[in-house]
Amino acid sequence: MNEQSALLTQIIDGKSIAREQREKLASQIAQLEYTPTLAVVLVGEDPASQIYVRNKIRLCESVGMGSVHHKLDAHVNQLDIERLIVELNEDETIDGILVQLPLPSSLDETRIINLIDADKDVDGLTRVNAGRLVSNELGLRPCTPVGCILLAKSALGDDLSGLHVVVVGRSILVGKPVAALFLNEDCTVTIAHSRTKDLKSVCQSADILVAAVGRAELINGDFLKPGAVVIDVGINRANTSAEKNSKPKILGDVDFDSCQGRASYITPVPGGVGPMTIASLLTNTVAAATLRRQRANTAISRS
Ligand code: GUN
Repeated sequence: MNEQSALLTQIIDGKSIAREQREKLASQIAQLEYTPTLAVVLVGEDPASQIYVRNKIRLCESVGMGSVHHKLDAHVNQLDIERLIVELNEDETIDGILVQLPLPSSLDETRIINLIDADKDVDGLTRVNAGRLVSNELGLRPCTPVGCILLAKSALGDDLSGLHVVVVGRSILVGKPVAALFLNEDCTVTIAHSRTKDLKSVCQSADILVAAVGRAELINGDFLKPGAVVIDVGINRANTSAEKNSKPKILGDVDFDSCQGRASYITPVPGGVGPMTIASLLTNTVAAATLRRQRANTAISRS
């Protein structure tokens, strides 16, 4: 038997790891004297965004957190949404603010995100939190990237130092921050993207391969070093000619089947990274609520 066929690929069960994380969070929240509360802003009718937001709100409630949903028309003007963000920043009952992306192209997304108070930025997407991440200072970290780290650690243990991580994708939401997080874990990190020459051989040098390009099944088993850990961030709706009303098939950026016997661990899609994103969002909201109150108390005791 050769080395490749001897390898048993294990599935990293993001769904159950996220459930455990939510259960811990729920008991932590039950001990608090306040209810951490998340404000979610959804603009327009994008069906995928509507599903994500519904799930975020449902899971907030499941752990005993509060949530406020602001649903805005797709034609909302820039000034109105900016006013809403300023109001939420100033609202003492709100601990976290999440603006679901993408926003309609008529809006200045960067300006809107950066208007969010960094200490309520539970998505970790403001420049302030991006800077804190790069300089490895305390701050709110982006949710999907944090989920990727937790999944890698669930397979390999807490010490990832010295491992070579190849991140395929360079988005602000995932690629860049996940690279920074692995660097903070003392990994050697390569960021590959659509212009990378010989993507396959770059990927073949990875101990941990993070696929976050948004192209269905771009990565297959031939791209892997035997024993690599594969984290698939992709959520691609397959363009099938299936009957109307049937759920679209969701595909990852990785061709799951061809990685069997080649990867040591792999995350499935769905049920891998997706549930971890929401668990990290809830964790960030509790952290934001706690930190803001600690800061307020410190300021009172100093005055
Ligand atoms: N759209 C897809 N993923 C995300 C996310 O993690 N945060 C926000 N705000 N929008 C998204």
